Amino acid sequence: MCGIVGYIGNKPVYDILITGLKKLEYRGYDSAGVMIYDKSLLIKKSKGKVADLESLFVNDQDKKGSIGMGHTRWATHGAPNQINSHPHVSNSGEISLVHNGIIENYHSLKSVLLKKGYVFKSDTDSEVLVNLIEDIKKTKKIKLGKATYFALKQVVGAYAIAVFDSTNPTEIITAKLGSPLAIGVGESEYYIGSDPSPFLEFTKRCIYLNDNEMAIINLKKGLTLRDIKKDSIIDPFIEELKHDIEEVEKGGYDHFMLKEIFEQPKSIKDTFRGRLLSPSLPIKISSIEMHFDKFRSANRIIFISCGTSWHASLLAEYYFEELIRIPVKVEYASEFRYRNPVINKGDIVIPVSQSGETADTLAAIKMAKEKGAFLYGICNVVGSTIARETDTGVYTHAGSEIGVASTKAFSCQISLLLLMALDIGKRLGRIEEIRYQKIIKELAAIPKTIESVLSKSKHIEDISENFLEASNFIYLGRGYHFPIALEGALKLKEISYIHAEGYPAAEMKHGPIALIDKYMPVVIIATNKSNYHKVVSNIMEIKARGGRIIAIVSSGDTEVKKLAEYTIEIPNCDELIAPILANIPLQLLSYYIANKKGCNIDQPRNLAKSVTVE
Ligand code: M6R
Repeated sequence: MCGIVGYIGNKPVYDILITGLKKLEYRGYDSAGVMIYDKSLLIKKSKGKVADLESLFVNDQDKKGSIGMGHTRWATHGAPNQINSHPHVSNSGEISLVHNGIIENYHSLKSVLLKKGYVFKSDTDSEVLVNLIEDIKKTKKIKLGKATYFALKQVVGAYAIAVFDSTNPTEIITAKLGSPLAIGVGESEYYIGSDPSPFLEFTKRCIYLNDNEMAIINLKKGLTLRDIKKDSIIDPFIEELKHDIEEVEKGGYDHFMLKEIFEQPKSIKDTFRGRLLSPSLPIKISSIEMHFDKFRSANRIIFISCGTSWHASLLAEYYFEELIRIPVKVEYASEFRYRNPVINKGDIVIPVSQSGETADTLAAIKMAKEKGAFLYGICNVVGSTIARETDTGVYTHAGSEIGVASTKAFSCQISLLLLMALDIGKRLGRIEEIRYQKIIKELAAIPKTIESVLSKSKHIEDISENFLEASNFIYLGRGYHFPIALEGALKLKEISYIHAEGYPAAEMKHGPIALIDKYMPVVIIATNKSNYHKVVSNIMEIKARGGRIIAIVSSGDTEVKKLAEYTIEIPNCDELIAPILANIPLQLLSYYIANKKGCNIDQPRNLAKSVTVE
């Protein structure tokens, strides 16, 4: 959570910081602030968005300077107000710091500093860190880099930081533990970002800091990378990024979320690229090929994840047990990490994550590793911490997802999970050839099939008009559609703030049916395969109690059409393919409802794109 940017070089820094912060607003948008150095230190901060911060710069004189740092905040310690905004400045006014993460032992550090006479203006853990650095620097009479090093040795928690000392204004110190940090390398200039998006337009040469690494970036001496644990110098690895700048622009759509929904055919093609070459050729997922012995001998597969990625994992349970016949367990990473789960040698643990930075998932990985599990990571962000912390894995290659509500990343996750299940199941000889052929053909065609679902967007937009006043929704699905019902409800909650719950359709009668009345819209997935008639019975039960039904049906359906107030058709397909398609209208329905209600679609209140705190 929170985004940090920085620049040190010869260009005017103001625009670099402001445009960079706007690109990182998906990480938090409670407040924003910048530090710019031009002969003296200028700090400006504001509650709210980067645009609010911009409005404080009325004087062009303030925009001068070619060294600076910025921060966009998702509040953890202290209210989202101006005082708690970053950058935080030390008591002497010399050192400033931006921080993403949580200093868990800030209380004890703060009480030591209080005894020494330090004064704190904010409620943040970050202000404690900047004063700790100052205290060490002054007492030991050492440079900023060394002082930061000693301070971080005392810190328990997670951080990505950038620190600046106005008494030596040619240097920025950065360090990372648990929270992401990337450094863009230009010609005699360096950029800093929580991810590379702030500097992609200037340079594609990037150093991703690893945990316990610290970079001393000096305008004259260049960049020195140090290992904090070993206190030694390391050679930086500069990666050539392949990211496309258009990926992080809206491309004519009103919102990133809508753009990302419509990008799904292309994103899934990218997920399959090099892996699903043609339905007649074997699936090629190199990490499965290389580690197939692990899957062959696996006693159990455990998925760990959060939010939408947890819904993808839940669908994977259905896919894997059906096609591979190995027992599967799906756990919320946040629960898994704090109980004492039984993990045996021979268990494969599969973390699923879009960002690859989710703190709970990372902690669960650590725990599973200690217990001897084999870790196979599935994430979207290349080079992310989860990708690096797992034994092996596979990228979803959905492309940058900026909208806080996950859409294309989810579709790519579930398409990839089905592909994996088909690959492993076939290698183990657990799928009938005819069945395999049918599913693989439909899966290969899914980018095209999704296009046909997207072409119904106007119909879905029209339906959305009728539900703007609703304050509750129920989403129902059976079997493969149950995780999709959960995901549909989460999407609606996140961006429209309408309360929504997802249930397995058959669970209705065990309680939730009490909620049904004429004010309750029920979205029910009723495609024409195995449980169809049971779902039709559920629809009748809802109708009998006056509920308003929006049904996702297979094309040509006549039965449900007679019962539902609104229907949205998806193409006829195998029941394993249907959830991938059924999810698309639910994304669009949430989008149109939220948009018509005037909600902030890409940056819903209280949320952030990657949850790097507990
Ligand atoms: O980056 P991750 O997939 O690990 O993130 C997990 C959740 O925080 C995330 O899916 C969240 O629920 C999204 N806002 C869903 O739209």
